[in-house]
Amino acid sequence: MAKVIVVTSGKGGVGKTTVTANLGSALASLGNKVLTIDADIGLRNLDMILGLENRIVYDIVDVVEGVIPPEKAFVKDKRSVEDVLRIKKIGVIPDEEKMIDFTNKGEPIVLSDNSSAGTALMNIARRLMGEDIPFNELTEKKGFFSRLIGG
Ligand SMILES: Nc1ncnc2c1ncn2[C@@H]1O[C@H](COP(=O)(O)OP(=O)(O)OP(=O)(O)O)[C@@H](O)[C@H]1O
Ligand SMILES: [Mg+2]
Repeated sequence: MAKVIVVTSGKGGVGKTTVTANLGSALASLGNKVLTIDADIGLRNLDMILGLENRIVYDIVDVVEGVIPPEKAFVKDKRSVEDVLRIKKIGVIPDEEKMIDFTNKGEPIVLSDNSSAGTALMNIARRLMGEDIPFNELTEKKGFFSRLIGG
């Protein structure tokens, strides 16, 4: 049975697309068939964060307007997910300076790096798949956002 996961927020720039790209990649690496959809009709960038922008021909606007059937807007991400992660158990998604580099490279951090944020996202994917992964305490680590707000 398919599950629909909506990643949304009332505020811009809080990490929705980053979470979507990484959660999708994590769920795929766990053996699931995943379709991630960028519903931003004006300024989509999920394709860029996944490094697939060169392969996009159609987008959600074409689908909604009936120009093409939905399958024509799908792009397959064939990235190898063999070396996915030594899992650490962390509860929330910490801010992670490296995330910005990965975002800009079009590479989901969850597939490439044993970082706190990547691990947290992988654990979220595992919990979504029904695994019982405890929510451990975060170890204090000051990253980009906490430094930005002076925390
Ligand atoms: N856990 C994190 N740690 C550090 N930086 C992060 C983290 N998550 C996202 N970022 C960075 O924050 C910026 C905004 O992220 P993103 O584009 O995913 O937000 P968004 O909510 O989708 O934004 P928009 O509302 O514009 O669509 C990006 O530069 C991204 O690399
Ligand atoms: Mg976004």
